[in-house]
Amino acid sequence: MTDVSTSLIQAAYIVAALLFIMSLAGLSRHETARDGNVLGMVGMGIALVATLWLALRDAPWGNAVAVAVAMAIGAAIGIWRARRVEMTGMPELIAMLHSFVGAAAVLVGLNTFLASDGVGDSVHLVEIFLGVFIGAVTFTGSIVAFLKLSARISSKPLMLPARHWLNLAALVVSAGLLVWFVAGHSLVPLLLMTAIALAFGWHLVASIGGGDMPVVVSMLNSYSGWAAAAAGFMLGNDLLIVTGALVGSSGAYLSYIMCTAMNRSFVSVIAGGFGSDGAVSDSDVDYGDHRETTAAEVAELLKNASSVVITPGYGMAVAQAQYPVAELTSKLRERGVDVRFGIHPVAGRLPGHMNVLLAEARVPYDIVLEMDEINDDFPDTDVVLVIGANDTVNPAAAEDPTSPIAGMPVLQVWNAKDVVVFKRSMNAGYAGVQNPLFFRDNSAMLFGDAKERVEDIIKAL
Ligand code: TAP
Repeated sequence: MTDVSTSLIQAAYIVAALLFIMSLAGLSRHETARDGNVLGMVGMGIALVATLWLALRDAPWGNAVAVAVAMAIGAAIGIWRARRVEMTGMPELIAMLHSFVGAAAVLVGLNTFLASDGVGDSVHLVEIFLGVFIGAVTFTGSIVAFLKLSARISSKPLMLPARHWLNLAALVVSAGLLVWFVAGHSLVPLLLMTAIALAFGWHLVASIGGGDMPVVVSMLNSYSGWAAAAAGFMLGNDLLIVTGALVGSSGAYLSYIMCTAMNRSFVSVIAGGFGSDGAVSDSDVDYGDHRETTAAEVAELLKNASSVVITPGYGMAVAQAQYPVAELTSKLRERGVDVRFGIHPVAGRLPGHMNVLLAEARVPYDIVLEMDEINDDFPDTDVVLVIGANDTVNPAAAEDPTSPIAGMPVLQVWNAKDVVVFKRSMNAGYAGVQNPLFFRDNSAMLFGDAKERVEDIIKAL
């Protein structure tokens, strides 16, 4: 009976792994993303049932009850958080969830070592050591990311003196502790390394500036995958190894794509901002005066336009303006205006944040274009509506080599005939950098909540 059940569990693991791979393939395109999600959920359901069966088939009833109670509490908290979270709060929720994976890897590692009484071959000990190391880095790194993304701490980079030497020292000392651990089978080096790795993870993310946070979020996603894979090795669970490796490698690839999109060095970002000089703000520069406009004036501008590009950013998510924006889009299209969207790869606070919001509001996919697809079209565009975007349309990135965001490709909206910027004040965006776009002759500011202002324009139309 046991052999049959083992074979069934192995078969279930293979099916789940295949479903996860198909899920990733589905998630790579708008049109198939929903199916991808469903495949992932089915795979996870199968994996969960098989793992529980494996864990509990020979276990006493008490253990089964303890697991069921723990799962019920965890699921209740998870459902409660997921139902309450706003779309704008997703990045910090994800950062928090990554920290749980890190914490789990640390606990699994320590428990595996303690349960084995220090007995085990060197390979197994290295697995434990690396699993705890990656888990601890992921744990504190994700907590700092959570605190930064939720604005509980400043998003400015922490600039400790000799910070790169500190990171290097942490790695060298940890390597020494690994040798001691494998040779001595002792808990002391494992605990010492855990403390160092916790501080290392904290420092790595704390020293990365606001503008690079998108890459950090996907890097932590990748680390959490490797931490799960390491836990899989420690527990001898093949599916956890496969799933962790899928998350780890897809997260690393996403980070690489985002680094390329932002013209940042991949190595620099994963090494805690290595090579950056930590420049943070140019708020003292005087760019002159800005011009204000009204919803009625913007409606007039749109009536006379033949091509309009909308570039949404984080403010659209905050205001939940995607629904009136979709309504405005269809009204303008009915009048024969060519309306398209230009999406910056790091607009908002999540990879694909704007795409999700626009899909939610049923904006047709074929008018939603990537930055590279639309950047050359701005000189032929009559009106650009910048809805709650700031850093992603900042000309300083392209024109001012001393700017902290210099070199980051941006949507070149200033090349259009008229630009209308929807925001509530003259405040800087996420990277804390002033935006010279607001002071250009062809730019006008439409102050107020983006949702209310777009609704005003629809009324005026
Ligand atoms: P941001 O530069 O963050 O600027 C958003 C703007 O929206 C703010 O200047 C704010 O101005 C305005 N705003 C906020 N609430 C509003 C409301 N209710 N109505 C109207 N406007 C509102 O936006 P972005 O251009 O999307 O750039 C994203 C930034 O986040 C980049 O620096 C990026 O690196 C970073 N980031 C991205 C990610 C990912 S993966 N996408 C993750 C972490 C960080 P007011 O306060 O004046 O209204």
